[in-house]
Parts: sequence; structure tokens; C-alpha cells
Amino acid sequence: MGTQGAYIIVVGNEKGGTGKSTIAMHVMVNLMNRGLRVGSIDLDARQATLTRYVENRQLFITRQHMNLPMPVHESVVASDPYATGMALEEDLQRLDDCVNRMRAVCDILLIDTPGSDHYLSRLGHTYADTLLTPLNDSLIDLDVLARVNPETMRVRCPSYYSEMIWQIRKQRAIDDGASISWVVMRNRLSQINTRNKRDIDNILIELAPRIGFHLAAGLSERVIYREMFLRGLTLLDLREGGAGVSLNMSHVAARQELRALVQALGLPLQTQRTT
Ligand SMILES: Nc1ncnc2c1ncn2[C@@H]1O[C@H](COP(=O)(O)OP(=O)(O)O)[C@@H](O)[C@H]1O
Ligand SMILES: [Mg+2]
Repeated sequence: MGTQGAYIIVVGNEKGGTGKSTIAMHVMVNLMNRGLRVGSIDLDARQATLTRYVENRQLFITRQHMNLPMPVHESVVASDPYATGMALEEDLQRLDDCVNRMRAVCDILLIDTPGSDHYLSRLGHTYADTLLTPLNDSLIDLDVLARVNPETMRVRCPSYYSEMIWQIRKQRAIDDGASISWVVMRNRLSQINTRNKRDIDNILIELAPRIGFHLAAGLSERVIYREMFLRGLTLLDLREGGAGVSLNMSHVAARQELRALVQALGLPLQTQRTT
């Protein structure tokens, strides 16, 4: 990694339930399996999904005496959702301290953000080297990125989340001359080729160069992404005959999807161990 310390991936989207925390955990395990030191910061104090996922993993490891890779994890909680003045400054300082602490000891740092317009989330976005935005395959989810003409299905204009990212990118360029790479991916894709799926595909292809993101292939809707949360495991931890789940074709395909996703993130990876 560079002299700046860890490479930072922010998983963000102002919409909840798009798979941010699930994807953060799966990307983390993929990277840890490559031998990288991974850190994670949870900015979603209310749901704390990623924090619970990591805690569950630690409990599973202790219970089962298993040797699974673990991230260095912290969460940063806002002192007050509407903090202003000194309280706001203190929160921002705590996040900055946390990022700097982690940066020094990790190769890759993932920041999971809440699905709302919150000042900590907005600040979290400013640290991104890569911003990963998952979308459910729905026109409702797409609405955070762009307004679409219902007659022609063509993009009318960028929407509020895209505007926010544009502002943050501009600020980063002014502050340290850095650019943020933005990757948008679709999550929970159905296996069926519906009209809705094609419409969203076309809109995202049109939108990508306009607001400056790369489109990654995305993840399918699969039960395996949700059934191992309580044990803190992911499908990448499955070994044949282990953890009470046997590996099937769907799991193998899911691993391939995840590999493709991590590849699409364009990370400066030095260790390339197969996962
Ligand atoms: N690819 C997927 N297939 C099936 N279920 C998924 C997938 N990705 C996420 N989920 C489920 O979708 C819900 C929302 O995911 P979550 O990671 O909590 O989203 P967010 O962090 O954006 O709010 C959870 O129930 C999760 O288990
Ligand atoms: Mg979440």
C-alpha cells in the first residue's frame, strides 16, 4: 500500500437495505483471505449490522476454537444525531482519530455507512479512495442516483446522492488533489431476465459516464448471503463439510461473483492469494 497507510473503501448509499453491511463483510473476508490486514469502521450506530457481524464472528471463533481471520473493528457513534458546534467538531475529530489509528495498522480499511443523510456518513465518504455503492435492482433505489423520464426511461438529471458525491469529490480534489474512484453495483439480482432488469441496466450504462462511476457486475439474490450472519460467517468461510453447510453450485457461483466484485474495485493489491 502507499505511504499514506491503508487504502480506504467506503460502502455508501443514502438508501437503507441495499446490502452495504453484507457486502462490506464479504469484501472484508475476501481481502483477509488474501493475507491482507483489514480494518473496519461502522458509522451506522443505529443498526450496527457490521459491528454485530464482527462480534458474532469473534464469538463463533471462541466457541468453535476455529482459526478464522478477523478484522480490526471499531464503531464511531455520533454524540447526538443533530449535533452542532462543539459536539459536531468532537464527533468529526473522533472519526478522524479512528481513521488515522486504523490507517496505520491496516492495508485496507472499510467504512460502512448508514442509509441516511447523516453528518458522520457524509464525513465518512470524504475518506474514500474507492466508494462502493450497492443498489437493489429497483427504480426506487435508482432514484437516489438519478431522475429518470418515465416515458422514455432516459436519465433526466443526477439526483441528491450523486450531487453529494460530486461535492465530496470536488472538495477532495481541492484538499489533497486526490480523486475518488466510484463503483456502483447492483445487488440481489434476480436470475430471471425481466424488463425491469434491462431498464435499470440501460439507465446505469447511460448514467455512468455522466456522473463518473464504474459499473461492476453485481451480486445475485442468494440465501447464502443472509443465513450465516448469526455465526459471523460468510460463504467464503465455508469448507466442504464445515460450519454445518455443504458447498453447492450456487455457493461456487457466489464466490465467483464476489471475486469479480473485488476485482472491479481496482484495489492496489500486492498479495494475490486465491480465495
Ligand atoms: N445478495 C443478497 N442476496 C440475498 N439477500 C441479501 C443480499 N444482500 C443483502 N441481503 C439481505 O438484504 C438485507 C439488507 O442488507 P444489509 O446489508 O443490512 O443492507 P444495508 O447495510 O444497506 O442496510 C439483509 O436482510 C441482508 O441479509
Ligand atoms: Mg447496514
